[in-house]
Amino acid sequence: MYRKEFYIYNGDIPLPAVIRSYKETDFTSLAEMNRECFPPPFPDELLWNHNQLQNHVNLFPDGALCIEVGGEMAGSMTSLMVDYHHTDGDHSWDEITDRGYIGNHNPKGNTLYVVDISVRPRFRKLGLGKWLMFSMYDVVIHHNLERLLGGGRMPGYHKVSDKMTPEEYLQAVVSGKLKDPVLTFLLRCGRTPVKAVLNYLEDEESCNCAALMEWRNPFFHTS
Ligand SMILES: CC(C)(COP(=O)(O)OP(=O)(O)OC[C@H]1O[C@@H](n2cnc3c(N)ncnc32)[C@H](O)[C@@H]1OP(=O)(O)O)[C@@H](O)C(=O)NCCC(=O)NCCS
Repeated sequence: MYRKEFYIYNGDIPLPAVIRSYKETDFTSLAEMNRECFPPPFPDELLWNHNQLQNHVNLFPDGALCIEVGGEMAGSMTSLMVDYHHTDGDHSWDEITDRGYIGNHNPKGNTLYVVDISVRPRFRKLGLGKWLMFSMYDVVIHHNLERLLGGGRMPGYHKVSDKMTPEEYLQAVVSGKLKDPVLTFLLRCGRTPVKAVLNYLEDEESCNCAALMEWRNPFFHTS
């Protein structure tokens, strides 16, 4: 179980915040928040259901984190452990997360894989997403995993998909020529690009593509 208490700043005002493992009594507010964070055209069937949340809590509570600000649910991030090697072929979100049910969670895996991250619209740009990401880095270090990995959405890609491949779009964001609401956020959190992946997740804005991005554990040891 994970718990961290601190203050976040809204301008000059410090607000009490806590990042902790979520539990069954949080499911209603998590589902409500999920709906707010992923509005249409994001498909309804990809929003959390009770069984998925129950599995996160039962199978890997260290990877099921939420952030509360002033006692209000403001964001969440979920992960599972998998065995991953860069020589592996491409995977989809459905395959690597067991459609969000994490039934494939492997406590002997080498990689912490991100199932999702979201922050409620009215709490965005306050640093909460970054706090959640850095808390998952804590989990990577605590479990002595090689890396954190995840497929980042690229919701700005549909605007240029007639001119650029997903890989060219990723490179344009990494070189600073373009900004993307998710990829730029991930770069600012210290994630580095591995490659663009096609047919990752049904996601109109990203043209079903994602950028596989990692963070390597500086403390990883084999003994
Ligand atoms: C992506 C998301 C989680 C970011 O959360 P957030 O709490 O607003 O992000 P933070 O305030 O922690 O921002 C961290 C850094 O990213 C940058 N950033 C955040 N949103 C950004 C955006 N839309 N465009 C460019 N940069 C952005 C911030 O400027 C900040 O940079 P800094 O730390 O160098 O100052 C949030 O926008 C969200 O929930 N989006 C919808 C759900 C989603 O698509 N999730 C991704 C699934 S792969």
